[in-house]
Amino acid sequence: MTDLLPGPVAVAQERRLVTEVPGPRSRELAARRAAAVTSAVGSVLPVYVERAAGSVVVDVDGNSFIDLGSGIAVTSVGHAAPEVVAAVSAQAAAFTHTCFMVGPYEGYVAVAEELDRLTPGNHEKRSALFTSGAEAVENAVKVARVATGRSAVVVFDHAYHGRTNLTMALTAKNMPYKNGFGPFAGEVYRVPMSYPFRDEPGMTGEQAAARALALVESQIGADNVAAVLIEPIQGEGGFVVPAPGFLPALADWCRRSGAVFVADEVQTGFCRTGAWFASEHEGVVPDLVATAKGIAGGMPLAGLTGRAELMDAVHTGGLGGTYGGNPVACAAAIASIRTMREMDLAGAARGIEATMLPRLRALQERSGVVGDVRGRGAMLAVELVRPGTNEPDAALTNAISKACHAEGVITLTAGTFGNVLRFLPPLVIGQDLLTEALDVLDAAFDAHAPAR
Ligand SMILES: Cc1ncc(COP(=O)(O)O)c(C=O)c1O
Repeated sequence: MTDLLPGPVAVAQERRLVTEVPGPRSRELAARRAAAVTSAVGSVLPVYVERAAGSVVVDVDGNSFIDLGSGIAVTSVGHAAPEVVAAVSAQAAAFTHTCFMVGPYEGYVAVAEELDRLTPGNHEKRSALFTSGAEAVENAVKVARVATGRSAVVVFDHAYHGRTNLTMALTAKNMPYKNGFGPFAGEVYRVPMSYPFRDEPGMTGEQAAARALALVESQIGADNVAAVLIEPIQGEGGFVVPAPGFLPALADWCRRSGAVFVADEVQTGFCRTGAWFASEHEGVVPDLVATAKGIAGGMPLAGLTGRAELMDAVHTGGLGGTYGGNPVACAAAIASIRTMREMDLAGAARGIEATMLPRLRALQERSGVVGDVRGRGAMLAVELVRPGTNEPDAALTNAISKACHAEGVITLTAGTFGNVLRFLPPLVIGQDLLTEALDVLDAAFDAHAPAR
């Protein structure tokens, strides 16, 4: 029997294709879109969504897809999670907006309290809320500059921090994020990441940190660094997990140098990696933590949380925005966080890892095109290469991803070289559904990269 998840329309937790993909109604919408929506905005799926619940997305032709993407790591508590829907409805009926900078309300304060409690470290913290991940990261740079009186920001190869002008400067990859959009913000310096699959074999995290920090000291000067900004596991860059010791060495250097250590946990946060925050896996306590995505079950909300003395160094009125900490989004966040706690979704993420990793490793053994299997919790990836080399194979990655879509499984790609298949299932996904999605993935590999 398939689970029926409640919602305005019950959604069976099953994969079911009833038309070709895309079906006729999706094709009609694609034609309307082409005439109305700029081609500058792309979409991964060829189908248009009608509803979604739990781990299943239903398109306008009635096809049901198992979601291994969660709208890019957002719907961690599941699509249309009942607690989130109830909280959003109640808040929308009470009031939808006053602007916290005009008429403050409890929901904002309650989310800040949760962020102060949940982010790593027991020190005194303060938070501010925003609407997108990019905004949270931009505000981290603003806070770090005011608090230190310095301007340089250190970022890493393969980093992704957003699409605003400053966050484009912080982001590494040119296409599609930066090409033609400059000039970019200044005082941003990029150094090598620890990328075990592509670094010299055996390079430790400490050695990779020394490589990066030697450049910082010689080219910027430690005294000029306001912030070192890093994703504890890189997201768009291809789920790059740095070698153990890399993050602690960077954090130590910041402490010694008076720079602010900023963790961009926009993609890794809120139970995704099997802990509330990915920094915890190595006991790293960032000075500032940027959050978004999974925080609010699909509503747009972002946070910046950090040491009280840093966050309060900014003059009153220096941080904010019309929609930052919107009350409906705050209600969704409180319900999402409660759900994560009550359902132990960090534990669920570890369970997903326990199911998926052996399957992905078996694929690696069998296929010859999987160079690396990596990630933590429910943030896992395979990096595809030409057999016997570590040359990226983006075409194969795309072909396999599209084959999964055609069979009713939503997968995403990533990576500087476009050759990473990444998996971000809702943390509430059932074992049967996850296993079925992995069977579809296996078949897609068998069709496009026959076993060696
Ligand atoms: C690590 C990281 N930082 C920042 C962002 C930007 O977030 P948003 O798209 O909400 O602006 C993203 C989005 O993918 C991200 O993965």
